[in-house]
Amino acid sequence: METVQERNTGFAASIDVVVIAGVPGTGKTTVARRLAEALGYLHIDLTELALREKLYLEYDEERMSYVIDEERLVERVLSIVERHGKAVIDTHYPEILPPMLPRMVFVLRLHPMLLEERLRRRGWPWRKIKENIEAEILGVVTYNALERFGEDRVYEIDTTGRGVDEIVGEIMDVMRRGPGRQRIFVDWLSRLDMDVLSRYLD
Ligand SMILES: Nc1ncnc2c1ncn2[C@@H]1O[C@H](COP(=O)(O)OP(=O)(O)OP(=O)(O)O)[C@@H](O)[C@H]1O
Ligand SMILES: [Mg+2]
Repeated sequence: METVQERNTGFAASIDVVVIAGVPGTGKTTVARRLAEALGYLHIDLTELALREKLYLEYDEERMSYVIDEERLVERVLSIVERHGKAVIDTHYPEILPPMLPRMVFVLRLHPMLLEERLRRRGWPWRKIKENIEAEILGVVTYNALERFGEDRVYEIDTTGRGVDEIVGEIMDVMRRGPGRQRIFVDWLSRLDMDVLSRYLD
């Protein structure tokens, strides 16, 4: 795997950033925390940071979420990364990060029905659950990550039915050996029956 220096990123060679992405509920924070521990890196949860430091513009009542002030959030993240050097960043909008910052972006994928179960446990209204499952089915996070970071640095992991240790193990493996040529992109549209899909897509 190329080093940060070889990428000629404009970032110091001592900086190493790994991103864990995915729609809400796919397990980003759980995985990122464990991965950061294993690597000895700092864990930065972008949503948590934005809320804690009030780096948002407003609360969107309709979408029931804060509208993040991307400029201020990215500025803050860069200052933390410059100070700490090595970090695991967990976010559902990796595309706000500078294109050359992450060494790798891992997108966690999860079977829509399991995702539904997890999001229901949060007590979210169906509208919000459905919106996120739609994004999972269509692979929106991966699409945005590929646009921003390119194929070589985006790697999907189907977490369905797998424990955190196994997922973290795969991530560390890919970090060591590179993504390889046999990568798999999850496509729920072709893998799920129409009756399951029609529950979420209209
Ligand atoms: N591999 C796993 N197997 C079973 N349960 C998991 C797994 N990973 C995470 N979970 C559980 O799923 C729920 C959501 O996980 P987590 O909070 O890490 O998701 P997230 O992607 O960070 O969500 P958000 O974007 O809303 O912050 C938690 O209850 C967590 O314990
Ligand atoms: Mg989280």
